[in-house]
Amino acid sequence: MRLLTYILLAAPILASCVPHDPRGHDNSRRSDKHDDKQDDKSKDRPRPTSCTTTTPPASTTSCVPTTSPTKAFTVIAAHSGSPIHLLPMVAGGLGFQVGGGTSSYCPTVVGASCPPGNETVFVGGSISVMVPGGQQQYVEVGGRIGYTQAHSASMPVGAIPGGFSYYKCPDEQFGHITTSIFNATGLMACPDNSFGTQRYVVYANIPNAVVPSGNVQDCIGFDGLTSDYNGPLPAAWQYT
Ligand SMILES: *[C@@H]1O[C@H](CO)[C@@H](O)[C@H](O)[C@H]1NC(C)=O
Ligand SMILES: *[C@@H]1O[C@H](CO)[C@@H](O)[C@H](O)[C@H]1NC(C)=O
Repeated sequence: MRLLTYILLAAPILASCVPHDPRGHDNSRRSDKHDDKQDDKSKDRPRPTSCTTTTPPASTTSCVPTTSPTKAFTVIAAHSGSPIHLLPMVAGGLGFQVGGGTSSYCPTVVGASCPPGNETVFVGGSISVMVPGGQQQYVEVGGRIGYTQAHSASMPVGAIPGGFSYYKCPDEQFGHITTSIFNATGLMACPDNSFGTQRYVVYANIPNAVVPSGNVQDCIGFDGLTSDYNGPLPAAWQYT
C-alpha cells in the first residue's frame, strides 16, 4: 500500500524526468481509445534533456537513459487498475513475464557456488548471470524481448541485441526501464494462454508486434519501475 501511494503521489515528479517521446508516453491499454489526460499534459510540458536538480546523480545512477547501467536492479510493472500492476518482471522461457517466479538453473557440479537464482536481476545492460559467455538480451522483429540460451550466441533472425534503457534521476526512489528499439514507445505485457494458465509476456510496445493472442490490442502498456538490488551478484547461474 505504501508503494502504491508513493507511485500515485510521485507520478507527476517521475513524469518530469521521463525522456521524451514525441508521441507521448503510452501507459494505457492499447485498446483504450480514450485520451488520457495525464498523457496530454505531458505532451505540453517543456522537454528538458535531463533532470536538472541541485543534486548530481550518484555515479551508479543516471538521469539520462543508459543502456549499460552499472547499478544492479530488479523490475516491477506499473499500470494502475490493470491485472499486472506491481507484479515483478521475471525471466522465463528465454524471455520475460510479468508475474510468476523466476526460472533459472544451476548445474549440480557448481554446488555451493551456485548463486541464489530466485530473482531476475539486471546489470550492465543484461541479465545478471554467472554462466561463461553470459546471456545476451535482444528484441525480436515481432517485438518480443528475449535473451540467448546459455552457451549460445544465437538470436532470431533480425533481432537487435540490447533491450532496455535505464534511467534514475537524483533522489528518485525508483528507476525506470523502457525501450525504443524498433521505435518502440516503451514496454507492454501481452497475454499468452499457451501455458495452460494465462501469463503476460513482455514485448516492446510497437504497433505491429507479433503477440501470442494475435491481437496487439490485448496487450497492456506498463512502466518498468526498478529497485536497486543489493544481493549477491551474479544473481543466477543462468536464466532458462
Ligand atoms: C531469494 O532468496 C534469498 C535467500 O534465500 C531471500 O533472501 C530472498 O528473499 C529471495 N527472494 C525472492 C524474490 O524470493
Ligand atoms: C523508426 O523511425 C525512423 C524515423 O521516423 C524511421 O526512419 C525508421 O524506419 C523507423 N524504424 C522502424 C523499425 O520502424
